[in-house]
Amino acid sequence: MDDRSRPLSKPFPHGVVNDAASVTEVVQRAMSRTPDPRLREIMGSLVKHLHAFVRESRPTPEEFERGLDFLLRVGQASGPQKNEVVLLSDLLGVSTLVVMLEKERSGAGGTDPALLGPFWRDNSPVCAPGENIARADGGGEPLEVAGRVVDPRGNPIAGVTVDVWQASPVGLYENQDPEQPDHNLRGRFETDGSGRFHLRTVRPRGYPVPTDGPCGELLRAQDRYPYRPAHLHFMLSRAGYETLVTQVFDNADDAIESDVVFGVTPALSGEYRRGPDGMLRLEYEFVLKPGTRRIPRAPIP
Ligand code: BEZ
Ligand code: FE
Repeated sequence: MDDRSRPLSKPFPHGVVNDAASVTEVVQRAMSRTPDPRLREIMGSLVKHLHAFVRESRPTPEEFERGLDFLLRVGQASGPQKNEVVLLSDLLGVSTLVVMLEKERSGAGGTDPALLGPFWRDNSPVCAPGENIARADGGGEPLEVAGRVVDPRGNPIAGVTVDVWQASPVGLYENQDPEQPDHNLRGRFETDGSGRFHLRTVRPRGYPVPTDGPCGELLRAQDRYPYRPAHLHFMLSRAGYETLVTQVFDNADDAIESDVVFGVTPALSGEYRRGPDGMLRLEYEFVLKPGTRRIPRAPIP
């Protein structure tokens, strides 16, 4: 699609528009020679449903201008600190829908996936077993995380890269907050021969998604609660297995049923338990399915 050396097409008489009813057909015809069949299918479906949406909602010219201006500002608000485009997809439930359709496609047997969100960074620090990813004294209650990674038959999987990231106790990711050191509360661990990994961190707290941009305006206009329940993010990957991107939530969080980006499933509702020694612990078993490893593109650098 981005081959700029490809010569521009010659005129193609797809016809002219007579009225509202004829627009969709003419546009579909104009796109009908798209060489890539999947692009042809996706764009054909997009135009069909987008035109149906416009026919149903009949925006006035002022509303149309406002909508276009909103999209323009979503793009302009995106940069190294924030990806407002991903945020918009998350808030509309599109990211979760894509994740759930992918879960349906790949079949039962694995841990529920959850949306990646806009704050994952690749190349986070490689950590030793048990290392503390809280690299600054930002307060917060100490938390131990102990995980086990198995295949659908319950066999442990060694050598899985477990990438963990979370917001600070004040509810900001490190790259949103100049007070935090680079890569604070991020780390990559590896499972041992029994499929286990463990790390230390601080208890995650619920936090609002960024509300200082156009997506925040939309949330206010819709009277929506902007919080996510407390959670840790995990990405588990190893050659020969489908990469699992997920989140484990704190089931004691008041917002567990009000996640503004719809990431919670019953199975991802974890228990952050206090042990007899007073230490808070999260234990969780992840199930990876055999398949192809795929690492997503980072929404921010
Ligand atoms: C997150 O959990 O990091 C997140 C997900 C969607 C929108 C904003 C933040
Ligand atoms: Fe998060």
